[in-house]
Amino acid sequence: MAQLTGFKKTKTAVFISGRGSNLKSLIKFSKTKKSPITINLIISNYNKSKGLEFAKKFRIKKKIFNFKKRSISEKEILSELKKKNIRLICLAGFMKILSKYFIKNYNGRILNIHPSLLPKYKGLNTHERVIKNKEIYSGCTVHYVNYRLDSGKIIMQKKVKIRRNDTPNSLSKRILIQEHKLYPKAILKIFNL
Ligand code: GAR
Repeated sequence: MAQLTGFKKTKTAVFISGRGSNLKSLIKFSKTKKSPITINLIISNYNKSKGLEFAKKFRIKKKIFNFKKRSISEKEILSELKKKNIRLICLAGFMKILSKYFIKNYNGRILNIHPSLLPKYKGLNTHERVIKNKEIYSGCTVHYVNYRLDSGKIIMQKKVKIRRNDTPNSLSKRILIQEHKLYPKAILKIFNL
């Protein structure tokens, strides 16, 4: 991602829908010296997202768009992003699907984290399906967002071994710990750091 490199840190927006633990790990990372990004905006589609508390805690601007009419919400978001000079978008547990129109506006500049070893187990309820299928490994993936769900170019993955007595809950907890490490690593990678 050469056009993003330079002396100044890249202004980044994080999109969330819920708990925001990946958001928190990204904020912590963004505050380290080696981070090529700063987090300047948090966007949520849900005004009760628990993760919004991190906006207050870390004094980061937040905006809520309800996505009742996606095209309207997306246009408003784009104008907000442009106004704030946001150059990179990190989806972190954002459960809305962005339109082609939106993605085109930030082509190659939207990242997502997904709790499976893509291309396996795209979509929802990954942990349930992985356990049901008696997989040996699952994990997490950071990838670019393209027009097809969970199908963009993979940046980095981390494998997690499934235990015999794992439940979707226990597995998701172990994978989440890895997600928090993987997202910052993937960001360093796209900046060639
Ligand atoms: C994370 O496990 C993330 O990988 C997943 O939602 C969780 C959000 O947790 N994302 C998806 O399933 C996207 N399809 P968080 O809000 O604590 O970061």
